[in-house]
This record gives sequence, structure tokens and C-alpha cells, in this order.
Amino acid sequence: MRNQALQEFLDAARTAYSHCARDPKSIALLERVFSTLEAPAQGTHPDSARLPVCRYLPNITEPSDHDAPELRQVMRAFRGIEPALWWHRRQGSCSGASEGFADSHANAMIVGPYGLEPRDDVWLGVSLLGPNVQYPDHRHPPEEVYLVMSPGDFRQGRKEWVHVAKGETYYNPHNIVHAMRSTDRPLLAFWALRE
Ligand SMILES: [Fe+2]
Repeated sequence: MRNQALQEFLDAARTAYSHCARDPKSIALLERVFSTLEAPAQGTHPDSARLPVCRYLPNITEPSDHDAPELRQVMRAFRGIEPALWWHRRQGSCSGASEGFADSHANAMIVGPYGLEPRDDVWLGVSLLGPNVQYPDHRHPPEEVYLVMSPGDFRQGRKEWVHVAKGETYYNPHNIVHAMRSTDRPLLAFWALRE
């Protein structure tokens, strides 16, 4: 059995992602992610922790900031699990990051390695950036779909930055180098990957 708050979040995330995703590759990946998650996994999760940048959370997760009921619901459900998350800094290269990056970002795995539900087949997590922060270029073998909850810019390789509005998804193919940056507001984005 899965913890009820986590199940509510996963149901809300599935609904929100499928409401927002438009391109066939994202839709296909999301189907693989959420059908895999129908089977809960067992394991012990790390203790919860917050970082200084988490001070932006109350504001950036306000459900009433969203018109779409799917986005309101995912924010409500996220607030139900957030206190249990292990917020931590990116491990790995930070080259290309903005100055002060270490104290102006946090990541948390919801399901996936070291997540609230530890497992290896799916990674579903969240990133928080303070205002005017650039996350470093990075890459990983699995393809990935972001669900952007507050507006931000996203980039692949050396291409131009693309502005993504809240309630839009952004797809990264296998192994592509990618980065994101916030505007003058904090950025909150979910990400979903399937091994
Ligand atoms: Fe990524």
C-alpha cells in the first residue's frame, strides 16, 4: 500500500501532466511513467530536509495562482507531501550555473532513487530555483518531461532559450544537454523520467 498523500499527489500529477502535454513524445513517455507507477514500490526513504531556498515554497505553490483545476489540484497535493521530502543540492558539475547557485536552488525526488518512494525504474521529482538563477547544463540517458508550474526559460545544447509558461510541458530527448533558468520570480518545475 502506498501512503495516501503520495497516491493523491501521483494521481494529481498524472492528471496535470496529461492535461498540459501536447507533443506525442511527451504523451508517450508520460504513459510509460504513470503506468509503471500503478505498482507501488517498497523501501526506506531519506529523512526530510529543507534548504534556505525553500523559503519560496509557500508562495510558489499557492494553488489559487492557477486557473486550471488540474494545476490547482497538483499544487494542493504537492503541499501534502512537501514536508516529507528530502530537499538537497544538485550533486555533480555546476559549471555554467549562475553565481550563488548552491544556495539558490533545491531538488527533491518524489519517486525514484532516494525519493519518498525509492525505486529505480521511474524518477519523478521537483526543482526549485530562486529568482534569476541558472541551473547548470546537464544530461542523462533517459528522456524527460518537465511540467512547469511557474514561468521560466529552458534550453537544449547551444540553442536559443525557450520561454515556457506555467502549465506547459517541456520535453528533453535521451542524453541531450539541457539547462533552465528562472526569471525575476522563483521557478518550480516537476520532471518525469523512465529508465
Ligand atoms: Fe534533466
